[in-house]
Order: sequence, then structure tokens, then C-alpha cells
Amino acid sequence: MRDLLLSFITNNNLFKEDFEVVQWKDGDNNIQKEKRYYVSSSAEFKYFISNSKIIVYAIKNADIYTATQTKLDEALSALFGLELSYKKDTPSYCEYHFDRVSPERKVVKNNERIINKTVEYDLGYGVSYRPDKVPHVLISGGTGSGKSVFIEFLIIEFLKRKADIFICDPKNSDLSQLEFYLGSDKVASSLNQIAKVSRLVVEEMESRYQAMKENFEYGSNYITHGYSECWLIFDEMGAFQGNATDKKSKEVVNEVMGYIRQIILKGRAAGVFVLVASQQMNANTLNTDLRDNLGLRIALGANSGEGYRMVFGSATPDNIPVIEEKGAGLLFMQGSGQDKAQYYEAPFIDRDQFDFIEELTKYID
Ligand SMILES: Nc1ncnc2c1ncn2[C@@H]1O[C@H](COP(=O)(O)OP(=O)(O)OP(=O)(O)O)[C@@H](O)[C@H]1O
Ligand SMILES: [Mg+2]
Repeated sequence: MRDLLLSFITNNNLFKEDFEVVQWKDGDNNIQKEKRYYVSSSAEFKYFISNSKIIVYAIKNADIYTATQTKLDEALSALFGLELSYKKDTPSYCEYHFDRVSPERKVVKNNERIINKTVEYDLGYGVSYRPDKVPHVLISGGTGSGKSVFIEFLIIEFLKRKADIFICDPKNSDLSQLEFYLGSDKVASSLNQIAKVSRLVVEEMESRYQAMKENFEYGSNYITHGYSECWLIFDEMGAFQGNATDKKSKEVVNEVMGYIRQIILKGRAAGVFVLVASQQMNANTLNTDLRDNLGLRIALGANSGEGYRMVFGSATPDNIPVIEEKGAGLLFMQGSGQDKAQYYEAPFIDRDQFDFIEELTKYID
């Protein structure tokens, strides 16, 4: 890698040579002179390389190379034979990222029952997600963009980790049928049931905190206390809020939003998380403060620029990639090192190879 970058500097004239004249006397006492060339200045690079990534940092030293350091997209891309996947310009350096393996979409099939003891979720497309580090998930996207399919995939993944799941389906669509498998205290579709279920989740959070307080250990969390994850899954926040038509229903919606707020702000250490899906995000769905506390945010399908900004805020990319595949979109994960949302393809579910209910029943006793 070092040699490659050195030849890059030479081939692209990113250095200057100078010479000095050296004099000496030879054996016959005659003065000899010789020009000796040396590199007087050059562009400076640092790099990071792993199996999956190459990152080049083009350092800006306020010299004649500084202006060029931000314009190396094509030249570096040609050097590595890889597409530039991400670029970040800062006052002191410009960062170029190249993916060595192009990310692959995960394909979901029916499987043997597995118990997964890892906290990490492989979401495919090179994304691995840890709720204990980046709590809570938001999935937005227009109708048919793949939100419910993605939720099905996640539900199975939650169950593999023995998570406790609670489902609110105000649109009364497929997920509400899970009442039959999970019980009516865990699956809700009417306003009052939703209030009851979300209150239960908050109570679970409070009781975990109480128990953790009684067995206080510095720096501990739900994992060290032996709890598994607890997820409140909300498929269609917009539809739910649309229920607030009169005084009474407004009160219930506000009550539920209060529970969601508590979980978002306090849930992490107790292992209590929310997964919120919404067709449209606006300042009323979740205010930007709460949104910024959702660690993983995915916008599926093609959205308007405003739609993306509501989901990603300042992490909205300047150039939105073309989104054509079903279940594709943009993904932003806090702490991933990338400050803009990236192109992402959600796990592909082939109905011929994956039956959600068949899979689900393997995990409920
Ligand atoms: N990841 C995926 N893999 C395979 N097919 C998908 C995927 N995502 C979406 N689809 C296809 O698109 C259809 C619609 O997806 P889905 O029901 O998840 O949309 P939605 O975003 O929940 O829509 P709505 O807002 O109307 O509920 C699915 O029935 C499926 O055929
Ligand atoms: Mg849906």
C-alpha cells in the first residue's frame, strides 16, 4: 500500500524536486562538482487498510498540494480499481473510502431453530447493528417500500435472541394477526390496547431499572444483569397518530407518545428498545430531538428530499443514489464513522423460501 501511494505521488507529480551542488576534491586535487537531486516537498497521505476497506487520508498542509488533495476521487479510484464509496472533506484532511468487497444483500430463508447469543445483528449489505450501543430503530418509507417485510425479518432475529417482543399494529394489518401466537397482552391494534401494551413495556423498563439498582454494579447494563432484549414494535406511527380525532383519543395518543419518549430516552441500559415504522415522517411524528436518539434509521424506497431530511436531518447525503430495488433505501447508523446516510438493501425475502409464520412458530413455546 505504501509503495502504491508512493508511485501515485510520482505518477501524478504530487512532489517537487530540488538539487544541491556538491563539491569535492579528487585525488589530483581538482575540484569536482555534482548535482544531487532530492525531494523538497510532496503531498502527504495516511492510510488505513483492512479486508473490507481502504481509507486514504489526503493531508492538507497549507501548501501547493492542498487544493489537489480534495480532487483525487478519480485518480485514487483508478489506482485501486475500486469505486469511491464515501468521501469526507475537513479543514485538515480529505478522506476517501473504498470498499474492497462490494456489500452483498442478505437473503432470508427458513432455517432450523437457532438461538443466537450475540448482541450483533447482521442486517446484510455490510451492516452490523448493536442495539446495546445504538439503541432504537426507525424505518420510514412510502406504501409498499418494504417496511413490514423488514420488520418481519427483525422479529425473527429478535426471537432468535430470546427477546421479549410487543407489537402495536394500528393499521390492523398482518402483524396484528400475531396476537394468535404471542397473546393479546403483547399484540395490540386498537387505541386502548396500544396504550396498555406500551405501558407494559415501560413498566418492564422500570422494573429492570429497579432490579439493577438493587444489585448495583458500576458500568453494568441489561446484558450483565442477564436480561434479554425487550422490543416495542410500532408498525405505522403515522396511522396511530391519525387516530387522535377527539379529546379522548388525543389523550390516549399523547399518553402513548409519552411512553415511547421515555423508552427512547431511558431504555438503552435496561435493554428496552423501540422499533418505529412510519410512512411519512414529519415534525409531529417524532420531534427531531427524539429522532436523533434513534440510533439506526432507514428510509426505504425513493423519498422526497424533504422526506429524507425528516429522517436523517444533517446526515442527509448531498447526492441521493438511485433507489430501484424493492426493499432498498438509505441507512444511517450512529457511531458508524459515516456522517451521512448510505445506500442500503434490506434483507431479501423470497416468499418461496421464507414463510414468516412457519419461522415464527419455531420460536414460541
Ligand atoms: N426486502 C424485501 N424482499 C423481498 N420483497 C420485498 C422486500 N421488501 C418489500 N418487498 C415486496 O414489496 C411488498 C410490500 O412491502 P411491505 O408490505 O413491507 O411494504 P410497507 O412499506 O410495509 O407498506 P405499507 O406502508 O403500505 O404498510 C412485499 O409484499 C414484497 O412483495
Ligand atoms: Mg406495512
